[in-house]
Amino acid sequence: MARGYKYFEAVEKHAGLLGVGIAIMVSLGGLAEITPLFMRAHQVEAPAGVKPYDPLRLAGKDIYVREGCYLCHTQMIRALRAETERYGHYSVAEESVYDRPHQWGSKRTGPDLARVGGKYSDAWQRMHLLDPRKVVPVSNMPAYSWLEHETIDADDIMARMRTLRRLGEPYSDAEIAEAPKALEGKTALDALVAYLQGLGTSLPANGTSEASDGGAAP
Ligand code: HEC
Repeated sequence: MARGYKYFEAVEKHAGLLGVGIAIMVSLGGLAEITPLFMRAHQVEAPAGVKPYDPLRLAGKDIYVREGCYLCHTQMIRALRAETERYGHYSVAEESVYDRPHQWGSKRTGPDLARVGGKYSDAWQRMHLLDPRKVVPVSNMPAYSWLEHETIDADDIMARMRTLRRLGEPYSDAEIAEAPKALEGKTALDALVAYLQGLGTSLPANGTSEASDGGAAP
């Protein structure tokens, strides 16, 4: 007992020692809280409906990144009532397991696109990308008229599929071999529209079992 008190007194009387002790304890607490979260992030698995991008949509996703669409559009619906009423079910981690890199974004000059798939027809999407003001007169979105004339390099997409497979995405040899057929005669515009039309369509129609208002007060 007396021995224990000696250590206690030493810590109490030396602010430096006390500081080191506090730092060690806080670090342990922090590690205990943070480490499991890191492990969980790696464990997010694709639900049944979420499939890796098919060759055309994969090409479209690359064009989306290349053209910097993420600078004006997010793909992340927050669990807030104002957002879920406008855009639909809030985004869940499982939906972006095949997005490398994810396109959550952080700036909304235009609306969120996480669930834009199926909202408009293909014809609307094409016209909107070629000349946004034809369908939305007040739009300040740039026109992407060159996409219509750009072809897609199938070899490049096959190489990308092989690389993604190395990173763990379940592409089969047959799927990779069939990519040139799927891309034949397609333009960058076709690919981007296919990508947009698939956004947010992988979850069942009414989302997950959790409340769709994200628990926010009405
Ligand atoms: C300078 C900012 C800006 C950039 C860059 C931009 N957009 Fe937009 N986008 C907007 C704005 C503003 C709107 C809303 C007006 C409209 O519908 O045109 C919009 C609307 C949209 C819509 C309709 C969304 C809806 O729910 O009505 C889609 C789809 C879209 N953009 C796709 C794209 C794609 C794909 C790209 C990249 C090729 C892109 N945008 C680049 C600003 C931008």
